[in-house]
Amino acid sequence: MPSGARPKLHIVILRIRVFSNKPSQKLQSQTHLHSIPFPPISYPSLPISKNPTIITMTIPQPLFQPTLISKEVTSSLPADFTIRPLERNDYAKGFLECLKVLTHIGNVTEEKFHERYDWMDTQAKGGYYVLVIENEEERIVGTGVLLVERKFIHDLGTIGHIEEISITKEHQGKGLGQKMINGLDSVAQAIGCYKTILNCSVKNEGFYVKCGFKNGGGLEMSHYFEEPKSAYESG
Ligand SMILES: CC(C)(COP(=O)(O)OP(=O)(O)OC[C@H]1O[C@@H](n2cnc3c(N)ncnc32)[C@H](O)[C@@H]1OP(=O)(O)O)[C@@H](O)C(=O)NCCC(=O)NCCS
Repeated sequence: MPSGARPKLHIVILRIRVFSNKPSQKLQSQTHLHSIPFPPISYPSLPISKNPTIITMTIPQPLFQPTLISKEVTSSLPADFTIRPLERNDYAKGFLECLKVLTHIGNVTEEKFHERYDWMDTQAKGGYYVLVIENEEERIVGTGVLLVERKFIHDLGTIGHIEEISITKEHQGKGLGQKMINGLDSVAQAIGCYKTILNCSVKNEGFYVKCGFKNGGGLEMSHYFEEPKSAYESG
């Protein structure tokens, strides 16, 4: 700095705006760098640069509080996998492809997926706890649902139905299915369910026994109102 020149005070103004309206939370930040003589004679009203740097980030919007999944489960997944609630942008991460190992999916567009997600997140809030397992390539490789039933009986008891357990073929046999069940069970306990129940095919009975379930000896009954679309539905 040449002698006699007044030092400059550099001010960085960071403006952060969060847009929380649906469909997804957007966070924008603008950074402005201003240089004013120091010490200032008066505090000028700072001009806002005409070409600010605008960074737009999408904040993940989970279907439910991730803290409902026990730490014991989240910390015990094999390296490179994470377990978390379903998020609105999981369509793009292969959520429906993952479910294909289980059953027929149909033509579910991204728009239709978002409609269903938003319904679960608003009108049906607290009824659906969809968990996913994501790998390091940010692909969904496992999923499962806890469907909550609040009863009049058993002192207004709450039970959890475990549904739609799917682990993609290439990741089966790594313990992820068991972690998914443990995760759903932990959410069920955290929200006050006194038990979880499920239906399964005979070929998967051993898997659920390994996960701590017992065959209650009951019969699964069903009454279809349309033709079953897959072996899973007719099983
Ligand atoms: C069934 C399924 C969820 C199991 O997931 P996975 O990640 O492969 O299973 P895991 O690696 O967590 O297995 C946990 C234990 O159960 C055992 N196991 C897994 N599948 C089994 C089965 N069908 N029968 C008996 N035992 C089984 C494993 O050998 C393992 O035992 P170990 O702890 O002694 O090694 C998975 O194979 C899958 O998604 N299948 C297709 C969809 C489906 O059928 N879903 C269930 C609908 S009811």
